[in-house]
Amino acid sequence: MSSIPKDRSHKGNLKNPEALDRPKASNKESVAEVERSHNGDLKNLEAPESVAEVGKFDFLKALERPRPLNIERQRSCDERTMSELSIGISPRQLTAKAENCSRLGDHLDHLNSPLPKSGLNTPRSATFDSHSIASEAWDALRRSLVYFRGQPVGTIAALDNSDEKLNYDQVFVRDFVPSALAFLMNGEPDIVKNFILKTLRLQSWEKKIDRFQLAEGVMPASFKVFHDPVRNHETLIADFGESAIGRVAPVDSGFWWIILLRAYTKSTGDSSLAELPECQKGMRLILSLCLSEGFDTFPTLLCADGCCMIDRRMGVYGYPIEIQALFFMALRCALQLLKQDAEGKEFMERILKRLHALSYHMRSYFWLDLKQLNDVYRFKTEEYSHTAVNKFNVIPDSLPDWIFDFMPHHGGYFLGNVSPARMDFRWFCLGNCIAILSCMATTEQSTAIMDLIESRWEELVGDMPVKVCYPALESHEWRLITGCDPKNTRWSYHNGGSWPVLLWLLVAASIKTGRPQIARRALQVAETKLSKDSWPEYYDGTLGRYVGKQARKFQTWSIAGYLAARMMMDDPSHLGLVALEEDKLLKPLLKRSNSWTF
Ligand code: GLC
Repeated sequence: MSSIPKDRSHKGNLKNPEALDRPKASNKESVAEVERSHNGDLKNLEAPESVAEVGKFDFLKALERPRPLNIERQRSCDERTMSELSIGISPRQLTAKAENCSRLGDHLDHLNSPLPKSGLNTPRSATFDSHSIASEAWDALRRSLVYFRGQPVGTIAALDNSDEKLNYDQVFVRDFVPSALAFLMNGEPDIVKNFILKTLRLQSWEKKIDRFQLAEGVMPASFKVFHDPVRNHETLIADFGESAIGRVAPVDSGFWWIILLRAYTKSTGDSSLAELPECQKGMRLILSLCLSEGFDTFPTLLCADGCCMIDRRMGVYGYPIEIQALFFMALRCALQLLKQDAEGKEFMERILKRLHALSYHMRSYFWLDLKQLNDVYRFKTEEYSHTAVNKFNVIPDSLPDWIFDFMPHHGGYFLGNVSPARMDFRWFCLGNCIAILSCMATTEQSTAIMDLIESRWEELVGDMPVKVCYPALESHEWRLITGCDPKNTRWSYHNGGSWPVLLWLLVAASIKTGRPQIARRALQVAETKLSKDSWPEYYDGTLGRYVGKQARKFQTWSIAGYLAARMMMDDPSHLGLVALEEDKLLKPLLKRSNSWTF
């Protein structure tokens, strides 16, 4: 802890020591600020009609409706405790849970009372031995706040001053998600609202890479605050991929933005933010980008390598599971947030059509379990016409050796990528967890994903939750697929490294599937090391035993991911921020072939 500077005057943040105590600007002011020339129309701020009821499809609706339902929330917590009893919770955990449940009333009172003025109040979720780790994490998270004209607008990627900064001094959209969840769960939604509005303003910029203009809807990968000491003026500087290594635009940013807008709305019960004309427009712009018609023969989204969390060349070009799952989730969130006006309705129709096709495609062609693996192993090739079983002409010889041992009797997962003559058999954590949270996976598939994680605990969780992907690319494959990337050597970084940020996704998926023991076990593993190791960005090795070769310390999303996970575990009603209830309309109607059965 002593290595962290006490002031917040790092790059990307401001020389603004009193910022925490400053009165917050009103929403109107924040919307009215002009950072730089842009081409968006943000004039109309009049009160809009109400959006379609948020939470129409939501998971455990009664559990976590925002403001008025204290009694229901209290009851749901009791129910959860009862169901945990039947799966063997330890007495110690029970006491912690009981304590927490008795505090739930306070928690809801807090949600109903004016929000804390200072960002320095005590966190509410810490229990027992995790208490000191959580409060240390809160201190670190608050130190990572980035201010723009006196308002907190995000969190810096890492507060590690010991290393070259590269772009770790920026606020990344994807990195901010766990921070936002932690703040929302702690009853501090203002920073999330500021972030949503600021990134929306950035979306409306004119974006160019060399002479090529990017589409209007693209959301930035990251931004930073530039302080001009001469004019004593602050501006935001965004990166849409034009500065990023590899020059790839972040496809995930727009999806995370929509998912976050829903989480904010769900958490606060305040639909006025989502109803703002500029938020509606921002959503439509993102949706237009991914719903547009072209040469596609699949409902999945075609992407360049490195356009998401794995932002370097790692063979994730094509139809990566991470993007498909986020796409699915964002579409479902947008359905809840779009207004029922003419434009909104048109988009809702397009979304529904796409969701139907996408869920069918993903549940059928991306799914792999023992039965399906055996079918691929016996696939005939060169089939022609509609009757083909091996539709993508995958050659069985392309099955990697490891998959035969890795696949358990019970369990399955969504493949990393499926395209003509190609199945990427690697397991990716983020896509599989989002598949569960969004219900892209059927109930049976969700259970199977958790079964696989339990059966392959050493490989996927080991000494630090969770592997970003499994297994690592080695030797010739590594040379060919990563282009000899020295940062992505085997079992390091994106190539089979273990990323603490993924803990919140595993915990959420575990709770949603009724398997809190998996979440508890993963949290316990993480708590033995994270704080001691100063919250590294990632761990290396087949078991995730070593602090990553080039890992930043005090990586904000490791800190926030832990906090979000811990708070969800302590109060499962928070799950509603990130989990959607199954939509009856998307229930599987058809089975692809006899081979795909449960
Ligand atoms: C690395 C990660 C990326 C993350 C960024 C900031 O580039 O690959 O996912 O957003 O660091 O933490």
